[in-house]
Amino acid sequence: MSIIKDFPHFLHGGDYNPDQWLKTPGIIDDDFRLMDEAHCNAFSIGIFSWSQYEPEEGKFDFTWLDDIMERCRVHGKKVFLATPSGARPAWLGDKYPETNRVNEKGERMPWGGRENHCWTSPVMREKLAVVIRRLAERYASHPALGGWHVSNEYNGACYCGLCRKEFVDFLKQRYGSLERLNEVYWSAFWGHRYSAWEQVDPNDRSMDLARVDFLRFNTQQVVDFMRFEVEALRDFSDAPVTTNMMGVYEGLDYWRIADVCDFIADDCYPTWYKGETERTAARYSMIHDMHYSMKGKPFLMMESCPGIPNYKPYCKMRRPREFEREMLLALAHGADGTMYFQWRKGRGNCEKIHGAVVGHDGTDKTLMFQRVADYGARLERIGEIADSMIRPEVAVIHDWESVWALHNTKGFGERGGDVQEQQMIETVFKHYQSLWTHSVPLAVIESTCDFSRYKILVAPMLFMMKPGVMERLSRFVEDGGILVMTFLSAYVDDNNLCFSGGNPGGGELRRLFGIWNEDIDLFEPETEQTLRFDGWQLSGRNEFPVVRRCEYLHAEGAEVLGVYGNDFYAGSPALTMNRCGRGKAYYIGADTNPDFLELFYGKLLEQNGIEPVLSGLPSTVKAARREKDGAAYYFVQNMSDEPQTVRLPYEMEDLWNGISSVDAITLPPCGSAVLKSK
Ligand code: GLA
Ligand code: ZN
Repeated sequence: MSIIKDFPHFLHGGDYNPDQWLKTPGIIDDDFRLMDEAHCNAFSIGIFSWSQYEPEEGKFDFTWLDDIMERCRVHGKKVFLATPSGARPAWLGDKYPETNRVNEKGERMPWGGRENHCWTSPVMREKLAVVIRRLAERYASHPALGGWHVSNEYNGACYCGLCRKEFVDFLKQRYGSLERLNEVYWSAFWGHRYSAWEQVDPNDRSMDLARVDFLRFNTQQVVDFMRFEVEALRDFSDAPVTTNMMGVYEGLDYWRIADVCDFIADDCYPTWYKGETERTAARYSMIHDMHYSMKGKPFLMMESCPGIPNYKPYCKMRRPREFEREMLLALAHGADGTMYFQWRKGRGNCEKIHGAVVGHDGTDKTLMFQRVADYGARLERIGEIADSMIRPEVAVIHDWESVWALHNTKGFGERGGDVQEQQMIETVFKHYQSLWTHSVPLAVIESTCDFSRYKILVAPMLFMMKPGVMERLSRFVEDGGILVMTFLSAYVDDNNLCFSGGNPGGGELRRLFGIWNEDIDLFEPETEQTLRFDGWQLSGRNEFPVVRRCEYLHAEGAEVLGVYGNDFYAGSPALTMNRCGRGKAYYIGADTNPDFLELFYGKLLEQNGIEPVLSGLPSTVKAARREKDGAAYYFVQNMSDEPQTVRLPYEMEDLWNGISSVDAITLPPCGSAVLKSK
């Protein structure tokens, strides 16, 4: 089913803030003319408009929005109408200071900025519900309404008395008794035995579970807040709801937020700096694949930038075809639309020079506008692809709680710093990229998802094991699955307590992998270590650098495929494989560069009959496939600055360029094509 009911098109448009232009004659007329010209069909409106709707408490004015909604209807545009909780009116902050957040130090923050209200405050919720209900009632049956854009980029936390009290309730719910809490908090440590629930301090960095629990709690708060907003809408409207996520933002477990969404929406702001193209493309592919995987259906790239966001270190202009490639990358990985922040540049304040479709010149003459319009026209040509599926046989696991657990574990730090969090996501990206480079469909899931539909599961640095996961991983392998795990996996349980009985994971995974991970060696900068991999033939190479860290492993039944080259543990296992039931479990103890991982995964895919979606691609050309009604659609993208020729296995239709039959395509630098197999 399409994202917007009875609107089976790719969505194209962006954040539209007409309330910044209500007093400038002609601008809004121009906007709608230009929107048609740019082939835009969907807009997010009202994200920060609370103070326009309700300039004084209890006094409402929706006339300007009535006009905009009516214009949208006339011009055939669909609207994602926002609930305006992202920015509170000044009167609300003034009159009800309890709606302002309290920071970690216990200081009440002043009103101002955005996305900074208290999650618990009853006044906040009461006042918000009033304006949401007014909006919902007024526009629920408006023909331009496509769905609800709930709030904006939920983020952050509040430490006020009300929120702290909720946290205590969360702990009571989770642990039942103080005795149990003291047990799982290992509170005999430094004499931290708690004699009252209120003593648990989420900012006490000596207690590894307190912070993890606070992050869990904070996610629950946001989920509860979003549900509250959705309920206010639901009294009047059953249009689909979403909220815009921010990729792999660490502060919220997005899988929990996904449960409240009817479809997933995400904001993506990559930079395409020299020498980083593949890395960037892989990262965003991973984020897109995760958003597709969350619901197993197309998502919406809600925000992106047709130019460059003003806060990036190098605000360079877009190179030809780079913008189009970025948009098509999202579609290739399951988006059913790409939208921009924002439609028109405002004249004032901290986003006044942020890229937008319409610039301060106000015309259709800019490169940005023309690229958007050209893309929009082509998007209409490939509209039949909307609502098509991706069918991955390989999944990469990434858990938010694992990030939190590792980040709140002292140790394993590079240069002794607390940078574990960064390392984990970097490791996940690295493994994902090493698979992605082979142009195979990939899923990105969490460890509580169903594994049974995949042939290969990759769990890089899955530090924390949630309840039942180890058993499910074992079953997956016994039933014929291929499992790959890496260093720093399965060190702690969901209470951030180390496993007794040796890593990985105490008994269960130690048996599954047939190894014992005795210790981890973290390198000084000058350390030289290598992985000698004799297990398989890998392009004639068998020695690869090991970087940053490696684990000191003992084989306990596993076959040793690779060993370390240097130091006192030279010759000891670095990479192992254990047969278990009908499947195999691989353990990679060495952190390596992508050069090894790409070859390793290439071989693993081949051994398991997983082929690239198109064969014979030049190494800098990547392809992805979507499927629908028996047809296959290929997105083929040149990640290099040189033209590349791709020979196709059979004749296809080039939908993007409108050529009915091609058996080879030449992609210009950064070029893309969208093909249909006949
Ligand atoms: C976020 C916000 C937008 C805007 C953009 C700028 O994604 O949701 O309102 O501030 O960043 O890049
Ligand atoms: Zn609060």
